[in-house]
Amino acid sequence: MTLRPPIRSIGVLGAGRVGRALGKLARDVSLDVTVASSDDQQGISAATSADAVILAIPLGKYRTLPTEALTGSLVIDAMNYWWELDGRLPEFEDARTSSSQVVAAFLPGANVVKAFNHASVWELENLAAPPGAPQRRALAVAGNDADDVAAVSKLVDAMGFDPVPAGSLEEGVRFEPNTEAFGADANKADLQKMLDEFWESQRGRVVARARAHKPTGMPQPPGSLA
Ligand SMILES: NC(=O)c1ccc[n+]([C@@H]2O[C@H](COP(=O)([O-])OP(=O)(O)OC[C@H]3O[C@@H](n4cnc5c(N)ncnc54)[C@H](OP(=O)(O)O)[C@@H]3O)[C@@H](O)[C@H]2O)c1
Repeated sequence: MTLRPPIRSIGVLGAGRVGRALGKLARDVSLDVTVASSDDQQGISAATSADAVILAIPLGKYRTLPTEALTGSLVIDAMNYWWELDGRLPEFEDARTSSSQVVAAFLPGANVVKAFNHASVWELENLAAPPGAPQRRALAVAGNDADDVAAVSKLVDAMGFDPVPAGSLEEGVRFEPNTEAFGADANKADLQKMLDEFWESQRGRVVARARAHKPTGMPQPPGSLA
């Protein structure tokens, strides 16, 4: 296990509302930032060479991501599936997988971590606060590699939010749209509670059934289909 060096440069793919907000937060803490739009080849090339690359494009366009350039990169997936905007995409309607697992499968050479997706643009623009600030807004961080999660958690902290490690990419389903954590202005303890209670929520039960997942401590009634 090799600890990743601290993140000093950030590339953001997507110069929309989220991309610009995250770019500003990173610049505010003196990181070297490139925010690239889809028609900016030079910017995309610079962005994908950064220590960490944030994906902030509409999820429906994930197949336009530069797969090869992201090989070996630490990639932060801030995207969400909105069928109203993205169109109906069966791969994101399968409750067995989180949207970040689908993105990671499309970027097989990248180290994908899910973060920043469950705060609104307004929150990103207005709620960043120094460590220890009362009621500091917390953000969940999920990934399959502990070092990657630790590196992104430090970044989240530096950019003004309390990081809450949230398991593997598969567990990222706990802070997708239609979960309690999504869009919740929660501090660390409250966010942790929301993540912990996910499997008892309606969405959690749907996912659990789809995955034939039996969460520990959750009694299965006789004849349960789960
Ligand atoms: N809005 C929120 O409150 C919020 C909060 C958290 C997360 N998110 C997620 O963040 C993502 C972006 O949301 P947004 O509200 O910022 O959308 P947005 O304002 O529509 O911006 C998306 C940007 O991505 C660009 N883009 C598309 N494909 C690209 C590519 N291959 N490379 C580089 N840029 C590309 C688009 O530019 P072109 O016009 O050139 O295609 C556009 O400028 C979505 O997945 C969303 O679910 C949104």
